[in-house]
Amino acid sequence: MAKTDTIRTIKPCSRLEGEVVLPGDKSISHRAVILNSLARGKAQIDNFAPGADCLSTVRCLKALGVKIDRKGSRDSPIVSVSGAGEDGLKEASNVLDARNSATTMRLLGGLLASQPFLSVITGDTSLRNRPMGRLIEPLRLMGADIQGRARDSLAPLVIKGKKLRGIDLALPVPSAQIKSAILLASLFARGNTILHQAIPSRDHTERMLRQMGASLETQANSISSLPLTSPLVPVNLRVPGDISSAAYFLVAGLIHPCAKIVIRDCGINPTRTGILDILLAMGAKLKMDNERLEAGEPLADIVVESSDLKGIEVGGDIIPRLIDEIPILAVAGCVAREKTVIRDAGELRLKESDRIASVVNELSRLGAKIEPLPDGMVIHGGRPLSGTRVDSHLDHRLAMSLAVTGLVAKGETVIGHAHVAQVSYPAFWHTLQHALNTCKS
Ligand code: S3P
Repeated sequence: MAKTDTIRTIKPCSRLEGEVVLPGDKSISHRAVILNSLARGKAQIDNFAPGADCLSTVRCLKALGVKIDRKGSRDSPIVSVSGAGEDGLKEASNVLDARNSATTMRLLGGLLASQPFLSVITGDTSLRNRPMGRLIEPLRLMGADIQGRARDSLAPLVIKGKKLRGIDLALPVPSAQIKSAILLASLFARGNTILHQAIPSRDHTERMLRQMGASLETQANSISSLPLTSPLVPVNLRVPGDISSAAYFLVAGLIHPCAKIVIRDCGINPTRTGILDILLAMGAKLKMDNERLEAGEPLADIVVESSDLKGIEVGGDIIPRLIDEIPILAVAGCVAREKTVIRDAGELRLKESDRIASVVNELSRLGAKIEPLPDGMVIHGGRPLSGTRVDSHLDHRLAMSLAVTGLVAKGETVIGHAHVAQVSYPAFWHTLQHALNTCKS
């Protein structure tokens, strides 16, 4: 990508009005392509997430011998998977590269630990610095032979796949990636696996496995998974829009003084809707319409309008339900009246950037009064914001959050390393500049 493409300039605009078409949900797309690769038969995934992260999963699965084709438009690809079956994956002839995608590395890590061949998986600089001990330790309890750099805490990972045994485990962190990695391993293990979640995390893997005929039951906060006794049944689906991508336009519509935005076909799985609950509690004018189900996942259209938001305390069990939306929630907190306090979100320090430090630094540059906490931040809302030079820290969610801030800051907001938005939302800049027709950035 040319160097100039990495810088984006955002100016405030007088009106923000229009309809947003979302990219397919990233979490659901990863699972749809992985699980259909293990099924017997063909599946078509419409509105597959177009961002770089899910393409990393596709590339790795192809390297493992799965036949996957991509057609459709750039922003809404159609992915066809010819499932390799439960014993059809093949040893890759080279190192697998998950690039920036922790979901790729962790989900495939669990799967590959249970396959009868050697795999080596790496990622970009950011991913090679994210914690992998949380993946390695539970898999080793299942008998896995898996090693990592820095005394088994970081990638690259070396995985000598073998037959694993089921486990009964209290998940140490409320992480859907770790939960899903163990569930994938459990499909090929000897004996039952039971996972206990102190706080539930997103449940897309559980929903899709059930749709595909796996023996998986959820009771209260425990999940029980039996090894496969018959092949997974392929599932065709249209992936709902990504609520994590919707969040930028939800907050843009709410904080802009003259806005009305319609967001179509947005996933509203209850394990992901913490952002809607918090924005409503802050006083958002937000309505949901046309609720329905697609392959076991709920979705709806959402309409937001300019609102007078009030600060709020956010913490406890809701955090995993909005963990990826905290950067943009912080932006809402900057504009809201009074104070917003975010706690119990230490996991933010382990994301694509240290999202407590990076969000606090960059929003402070724009004039926000915001202080870091070890596990969150305190935001004194209602301060005037002024555009200046900021940086994404190579974190897609920060790049898009800063762009939304630029819509309500005085003057120009110049965002460095803005191209990283492509990790989850390649059409973000186009949507911001053109779909919401009065905004020219
Ligand atoms: C994801 C789970 C979350 C989330 C990430 C996607 C998933 O990570 O932050 O963007 O698809 O399972 P953790 O599992 O680390 O909480």
